[in-house]
Amino acid sequence: MNQDKQNSSEIKRSLMEGFHLLTPRQRLDRMRAISGLDDEDVAILSGDSALPTSVAEHLIENVVGYFQIPLGVATNFNIDGKDLLIPMAVEETSIIAAASASAKWIRKDGSIRTYSKGSLIIGQIQLPSVQNVVRARQLLHESRDVLIEQGNLCIPGIVARGGGIRDLAIRELPRADGQGTMLVIHVLADPCDAMGANLINQVCEFLKPVIEDLTSEKVGMCILSNLVDGKLAGAEVVIRNVEEKLGRGIEEATHFAKSDPYRAATHNKGVMNGIDPILIATGNDWRAVESGIHSFASRTGRLQPITDWRLEGRDLVGRIEVPMAVGTVGGVTKLHPTARVALKMLGVSRAEDLARVCVAVGLVQNLAALKALSTVGIVKGHMQLHAANLAIAAGATVHEIPEMRTRLSAVLKNEKTINLTRARQVLHDLRQEGF
Ligand code: MEV
Repeated sequence: MNQDKQNSSEIKRSLMEGFHLLTPRQRLDRMRAISGLDDEDVAILSGDSALPTSVAEHLIENVVGYFQIPLGVATNFNIDGKDLLIPMAVEETSIIAAASASAKWIRKDGSIRTYSKGSLIIGQIQLPSVQNVVRARQLLHESRDVLIEQGNLCIPGIVARGGGIRDLAIRELPRADGQGTMLVIHVLADPCDAMGANLINQVCEFLKPVIEDLTSEKVGMCILSNLVDGKLAGAEVVIRNVEEKLGRGIEEATHFAKSDPYRAATHNKGVMNGIDPILIATGNDWRAVESGIHSFASRTGRLQPITDWRLEGRDLVGRIEVPMAVGTVGGVTKLHPTARVALKMLGVSRAEDLARVCVAVGLVQNLAALKALSTVGIVKGHMQLHAANLAIAAGATVHEIPEMRTRLSAVLKNEKTINLTRARQVLHDLRQEGF
C-alpha cells in the first residue's frame, strides 16, 4: 500500500471510530468528510425535508405520500482492501449494529474478498404448445444470428454501451398438464450497469411476432426470469486464528442449515438482512433479488444455505455465491434522490461493484447472526437494542426514552425477558417517581 493510500485509509478509519455514539447530525458531518458528500446530499440523507410527492408520482400510481423507514450506515467495512460506508435502509433494530460489529472483527483479524461471475440476464419467450417441435427448433436454430440482430435493434442505447443480446438458448419442457411440449427460448443479454428488467422484457415482446412468423407456432408469455444464474456475485471472508470452539460452532450452524430446509430458510433470511437494506437504499428491486437468490438456493430440489462456513486450520472461512441482478443506472436508482446519494456514499458506479458489496455485507451479516446463535443466543443483543422500540411503543416521550432504555436493560438482565406490558409498567413507575 503506498503512503497516500495508507494515510487516507487511516483517516477514514479514525472518522468511523465511535460513529454509533454520535448524533445523526454529527454522523452526517463525518460522512461528508469520509465520502465526499456535499450539502445537498447531506440534506437529502438527513430526511429533514420530505421528498416532494412529485417524485413519488413518477414512480407509482395513486400516490398519497411516503412510507419512511430509517436509513443508517454500517461501519468498519473493508471490502477488497477498500474502506466503505454501507448505506442500509431497514427497520429491524439490530441489523446495522451486528453488521458493523462483525465487520470490525474481520477488519482486525481477516479480510473480505469479492468477485463476480458472468454478466448475462435472461428473458424468456414461451411457446406453450408446440405443434412441430423438431421443425420449430430447427428454424430457431438457423435464425439465431438474425434474431439476435433484430432484438438488439430495439435496445440501441445498451448496444452502444457495449451490452446487448449475446445468445439464445432453446429449452424443451414437457407440459405439466401432460398436454404436449413447451419450448422456452432464453434470450441472454448483457444489461451493462442496468438491472435490465425493462430492456429484456422489451426485447422479448419485440421478438414475439418475429418468432411467430418464423415458426408458425404461437408465442405465449414474454418476460424476464429472476433466476439469474448467469450473473453471479461471490464473496469470501477469512478470519485468522479463530478460537476453535467459536469456529466449530459457526461451522456447525452451516451443517444445521444444510441438513434442514426449515433452518436454511432462516439462515438465508439472516443473509438477506444484510443485502436487502442496501438494495432498498440504492433504489434496487429487492423482490427480484430475493426471488433469484431463493430459487437459486433451491436449485437442487432442496433448499440449501447460501453461505458456507468452515474452520480451515485455525482460520474461519465463509463463502457465498448467488445471483445478483442489480443496477446503478435505470429504474429508481437515479430518480430517487436518496438512492442517488446512497450510491455516491458507497462510491460505486458499476452494477458489478454494487453486487459485490451486497454479497459481502450479506455474508458478514450472516456471520454476526451465526456467532450470536452459536454462543450467547440472539435475544440478548437484539432485545437490548429493541428496548428503545418498546419504550416508544409504551408511550415514552423523547425525554423519557434514555431512562427507559436503562431501566428496560436492567429488567432484561434480571428477568431475562422484556415485553410491551412490562415496558408499560416500567414507564408507569418512572412517572410515579416524578421523573
Ligand atoms: C433475524 O432477523 C435473523 C436471524 O434469525 C438469522 C439466523 O437465524 O441465522 C437471526
